[in-house]
Amino acid sequence: MKVTLSVIKADIGSLAGHIKPSAKLMETVKEYVAKEGKELLIDHYVGFTGDDIFILSSHVQGVSNSKVHELAWNAFLAGTETAKKQGLYGAGQDLLSDSFSGNIKGMGPAVAEMEFEERANEPFLLFTADKTDPGAYNLPLYLSFSDPMHNPGLILSPKINQGFTFTVMDVSYTEADRVIDLNTPEDLYNLAALLRDNERFVVEKIVARSSGEQATAASTTRLHHIAGKYVGKDDPVLLVRTQGSFPAAGEILSPYSIGHYVAGFMRGSHNGPFMPVTQNEATSFFDGPPMVSCLGFCVQEGRLTEPVDCFAQPFWNYVREKVSRKAVELREQGFSGPAMLPYSELEYGGIVTIMEQLEERFKER
Ligand code: F6R
Ligand code: MG
Ligand code: MG
Repeated sequence: MKVTLSVIKADIGSLAGHIKPSAKLMETVKEYVAKEGKELLIDHYVGFTGDDIFILSSHVQGVSNSKVHELAWNAFLAGTETAKKQGLYGAGQDLLSDSFSGNIKGMGPAVAEMEFEERANEPFLLFTADKTDPGAYNLPLYLSFSDPMHNPGLILSPKINQGFTFTVMDVSYTEADRVIDLNTPEDLYNLAALLRDNERFVVEKIVARSSGEQATAASTTRLHHIAGKYVGKDDPVLLVRTQGSFPAAGEILSPYSIGHYVAGFMRGSHNGPFMPVTQNEATSFFDGPPMVSCLGFCVQEGRLTEPVDCFAQPFWNYVREKVSRKAVELREQGFSGPAMLPYSELEYGGIVTIMEQLEERFKER
């Protein structure tokens, strides 16, 4: 059977700042999807990471389906009403349009979707991140799908050994979707040359060369390109099918032990280490650190199992300690050098005014 997995997420308001949604807000979104999605969806799961609520759904409507997108949009609108009533901070923040226009992409919320023929057993992982942007997944995806240091399947499994096709998007290009397909292992160095620049190039999807099957789907939107100003970081979502001709679940999870530095953190304008967290976690230190949670499911005839919380296992406590240390170490140098993003990536416009004012005070000697 052909099934579609859709994950759509938005920040529509949170407690005490950009920390986490209220219980009532979560309840509103959950109830809306359960009631209004009854006919349309086969199954769904609603959760949050930091201040972002995600709706995972399974259905047979295909990707970019206007009804599925509209359901999510309306669920976020219903949530926004609750957020406003409760006086939550940033109510409706990511809903950048006044009315729904057929596809939720480009309207604020992040979307990742994939349609595929279900295998006899169909395991997959859902990653949801907060206080960062889509390029945060570049390094983990590169390592999981092309480096035997994290994926021994590349030397042990004939299916994996044939490599993968990465579709990479130039997200700074706003006229259209500008993409390139690169095949591993031949294009490995070309891939690295692009993926080192997380703010410009983002892995949109990966396909297994042995089976032609799609392994991953990621959200690629950059909000400030849509709104033309800072309206929050993009907080990306990612779906990854596992096992068989795809990497094993543990090979996908392995690179998250690094806690690599990503863009985001306080005011979306700093670098911070990517912390793997348990499900429904809040942000804290310096509005962060940038965080990622991962839920593992199986899907059969569109029915989802309960999730396993992949970063809850005790191993990740050690990683969280390490990442905390990395966060504090970089924070010790405050605004200096690599602690903050370059001028072009700063998410707040205020710096432009400061620079303009200073301009007048400069003298040539
Ligand atoms: C970063 C983020 C927060 C806010 C910060 C200030 O993505 O969401 O760090 O930027 O809390 O928020 P505002 O500008 O809404 O007062
Ligand atoms: Mg926010
Ligand atoms: Mg967020």
